[in-house]
Amino acid sequence: MALVDVLAAVPPGSADEGLARRIDFDRLPRHVAVIMDGNGRWAAARHLPRVEGHRAGIESVRDTVETSARLGLQVLTLYAFSVENWKRPETEVSALMSLLRHYLRAELKTLLKNNIRFHVIGQLDRLAPEVREELEAAVTRTAGNTGMHFNIALSYGGRAEIVDAAREAVRRGLTPAQIDEDTFGSLLYTAGQPDPDLLIRTSGEMRVSNFLLWQIAYAEIWVTETLWPDFRAKHLLKGITEYQKRDRRYGAVSSDPVGALK
Ligand code: IPE
Ligand code: IPE
Ligand code: MG
Repeated sequence: MALVDVLAAVPPGSADEGLARRIDFDRLPRHVAVIMDGNGRWAAARHLPRVEGHRAGIESVRDTVETSARLGLQVLTLYAFSVENWKRPETEVSALMSLLRHYLRAELKTLLKNNIRFHVIGQLDRLAPEVREELEAAVTRTAGNTGMHFNIALSYGGRAEIVDAAREAVRRGLTPAQIDEDTFGSLLYTAGQPDPDLLIRTSGEMRVSNFLLWQIAYAEIWVTETLWPDFRAKHLLKGITEYQKRDRRYGAVSSDPVGALK
């Protein structure tokens, strides 16, 4: 997958095409993680119930998943529901769960067609059995695919994930000397996947809201004012071009100190 695959899906002469042509395909982020936020505000601006914002957000999920696969990203992680989101009214939680099932049923074919490997990360035992079964079916059906990993973070909390990993280390009887950053990383839900290079948050909020706390240690963060239901391929492409302008130093000195001043 590469430029030709992206161009095949964008209207010729469009802003999307211009953005796609500006992307350096040799320096793509391996893993893009997205905090999909702003559904409620999108609905409120239209005098609609919050759930309509969540419903509209499904189209953004479709577009983002397909564009990411066409770009050739190795991993895409979408934050769909946090452990804290269980505090929302029961009507909103059940509407979100039913939209999720609807999405899975409608999109499984597309995931298979695009060779995507689907994963769910989070405290899945808190989900209703029928939701879990549907998720597990999608994971199993796509397990033989060889393309992009698509993680959906559901009932997910970064701190809970770290605590779970610590418990797992104890369960496995690991000694202090056996625990280093690599071993610890292999006990997380994202074991075996590269850490996010780019973290995108929609709706302008400047916080990480308990998302992938361990894994985003050196992620580049790009926040857009766009609300999630308005997020499309062009926003993802824009985020990637912004990412490619960053000077990733990892605590060392800049390789281009003059460029870094610009
Ligand atoms: C993001 O939109 C979706 C979830 C967190 C499930 P919100 O529902 O948080 O929308 P806002 O932030 O209230 O606008
Ligand atoms: C973060 O959004 C969680 C998801 C996108 C699933 P929230 O809307 O729940 O986060 P806060 O409350 O603004 O931090
Ligand atoms: Mg929100």
